[in-house]
Amino acid sequence: MEGAKIQIVEDEAVIALGLKTKVEALGYTVTSIIATGEEAILAAGRDMPALVLMDIVLRGKMDGVEAAKEIKDRHAIPIIYMTAYSGEKILERAQLTEPSGYLLKACTNTELMVTIKMSLYKHKMEEWRRKAEEAERKRQEEKILIEQAKLSAMGEMLRAIAHNWRQPLNALGLIIQDVEDSYKFGEFNDEYLSEFVSNSMAEINSMSEVINGYRNLFKPDKEKRPFDAVEAVGETCSFLHGQTRNLSVNVEIIHPGIEALFVTGYINEFRQVVLNLMFNSMDAITARKKALRLTQNDTVQEAATIGNITLELSRHDTMAMLKITDDGGGVPEGLANRIFEPYFTTREQGSGVGVGLYLSKILIENQMDGKLYFENVENGAAFYVMLPETSEPCK
Ligand SMILES: Nc1ncnc2c1ncn2[C@@H]1O[C@H](COP(=O)(O)OP(=O)(O)OP(=O)(O)O)[C@@H](O)[C@H]1O
Ligand SMILES: [Mg+2]
Repeated sequence: MEGAKIQIVEDEAVIALGLKTKVEALGYTVTSIIATGEEAILAAGRDMPALVLMDIVLRGKMDGVEAAKEIKDRHAIPIIYMTAYSGEKILERAQLTEPSGYLLKACTNTELMVTIKMSLYKHKMEEWRRKAEEAERKRQEEKILIEQAKLSAMGEMLRAIAHNWRQPLNALGLIIQDVEDSYKFGEFNDEYLSEFVSNSMAEINSMSEVINGYRNLFKPDKEKRPFDAVEAVGETCSFLHGQTRNLSVNVEIIHPGIEALFVTGYINEFRQVVLNLMFNSMDAITARKKALRLTQNDTVQEAATIGNITLELSRHDTMAMLKITDDGGGVPEGLANRIFEPYFTTREQGSGVGVGLYLSKILIENQMDGKLYFENVENGAAFYVMLPETSEPCK
């Protein structure tokens, strides 16, 4: 803090000059000598001194205490009050502004030096503490957000599992109901029984496969490793197949001239990102269809042609690119720079938290050195996931 900048506020010129000489002799720089409270506030904002030496009693409308309070509030600059003789009342008010120190105008050089040094030191420590607290608060907020994102992702997964279970569950229902009929009609025999068991088990196995698939596909990775993005995209889309079919959404994966596209990172987190983007496209498509159906009858046909998602994998210099294009109407004008913000959602209350894109961006950009961005295209949106390409790992 050698040479720190100090502002002097003192309306008696002789005292002010004396103080300036003393302060400079201690190795500090005096930014200005000010005589009124109003000017002191302006000068503090302009020069941003490290410390203000403030005469408590100033002539004019504003006294030192008031000026000090403003300077502290606006600029967080520490204050040392200088007093000659001051009444109790003003000292009480001064105390409320939490000054860094008090000095008698007749103080010695040593007193001046110690008080200035202590204030600068104390202020620096406080700033450190404040910064540390702020960083901690931010970390906590981020943690809560990630927890929420995980919950929301889990909700989406349950939705997907429920869809994938619906079919085998229905089949199982039919198989079981048939037992009663077969018994009534005297068809229940050994052969029927063994077929009943094997058919039921097939459905049950397919249900448990869905769960295993989910567990393997989406449990968080511990470490980065090379994986084939073409394969990962394919797996994720087949996991969603039940749902896309249900919504009559046509999904196309293309990777012209490319067999495999290796990138290094967390494969399951990558799948999660693809899933988030797919869910967003599916939501946009569903919303657009609904809106079209509601507006005009003659657009029903148009609505029927909507529902295409294309996932295209390609190479750009050293980067692998996944482009997901949909025809869900795109992101409304004016919201484009908000969609990656946490908690930003346009979905109906209760159906979207608004963390999907935020989390996806963190995963791709902070954890995998990639880029995630979007642009509106004709009839919809295109989201780009860029990741550095790596060479195929040795088997
Ligand atoms: N493919 C898309 N087409 C049109 N708008 C989109 C698309 N993807 C995202 N958006 C817009 O961006 C917003 C934020 O998306 P984000 O995935 O972060 O949250 P969400 O889908 O609303 O909720 P959730 O937390 O369940 O993912 C959406 O509400 C939507 O308005
Ligand atoms: Mg989403």
